[in-house]
Amino acid sequence: MVRRFTSLTLLWSFFILFISSLVLFIEPHGRVAFWSNWHFLGLSKEEWDDLHLCSGTLFSLAAVFHLYLNWHTVVVYLKKKIKGLSGGPAVWGSLALTLFVCISSYFHLPPMQQLIELENKIKQAQTKKYGNPPFGHAELVPVNKLAKFLGIEPKKFVDALRANGIEVASGKESLKDLARSAGKSPSELFHLAMEYIHKGADKNINVRLPSVPPPGTGMMTINDIARTYHVSSQELIRRLRTTGINASPSDTIKEIAQKTHKSPQEIYSVLSK
Ligand code: HEM
Repeated sequence: MVRRFTSLTLLWSFFILFISSLVLFIEPHGRVAFWSNWHFLGLSKEEWDDLHLCSGTLFSLAAVFHLYLNWHTVVVYLKKKIKGLSGGPAVWGSLALTLFVCISSYFHLPPMQQLIELENKIKQAQTKKYGNPPFGHAELVPVNKLAKFLGIEPKKFVDALRANGIEVASGKESLKDLARSAGKSPSELFHLAMEYIHKGADKNINVRLPSVPPPGTGMMTINDIARTYHVSSQELIRRLRTTGINASPSDTIKEIAQKTHKSPQEIYSVLSK
């Protein structure tokens, strides 16, 4: 009964662990998921992470107990295989494979390099699809502060939200709270407000890019940055040109840095001036 219970727990928890591993592999980075209120099969990123951790813990405990229940058999098996000539390749081969995977993951060697690159590519594509926040956890700060940080008069930002039907009491609420009440994502509210501001008398408003960019900015193109901060691509290209750097809207910050033998930070600091 105990053995059967342990084996079945191992099976069910592995099933959940495996599904959640796949979701963790393809889910966006935290900052992107929180900004866009990302959900998959009705669960948020935090909920998938929690499910993965809990099913992983159950799986690990069940695996240790399973090993304990079968310890004698495992020891006898290993002794026999190590001693016997025919069993050697299976034991040493499996150990060598595990070691090879660990070493190639540490040194980013093929084929693990391809797996790591695939995960990075998927996460980059997710960042492109759902959009980066203007800075890390922008959804958590009061909207007054968010606006100020981007060089926008807080009252204008609050008015723009109100004009889009969002109930803002004082401006001390975060975009996350406002988005939850409005049934939208923080990213949607931000873009609605910024589009409203740009359509009005302030269409040429000079949005300030934060001095410290959110992670992942190096892989963003000029167009992506323009979309994130509601600055025109031409304006960003003009800022670069004033320091003698020529770039096109589809160039990433890293590509521009490589072409001009500068660091991505130097390129970003020109854009954020
Ligand atoms: C079938 C075996 C497993 C696979 C394929 C797997 C896969 C993954 C993947 C793809 C991620 C995301 C990594 C990233 O964002 O770059 C992850 C994160 C994580 N895994 Fe696993 N995992 C497995 C087993 C476990 C087990 C047994 C535990 C132990 C409880 C565990 C705990 C965690 C934790 C704590 C994280 C970080 C989650 C977070 O971002 O908050 N995993 N795993």
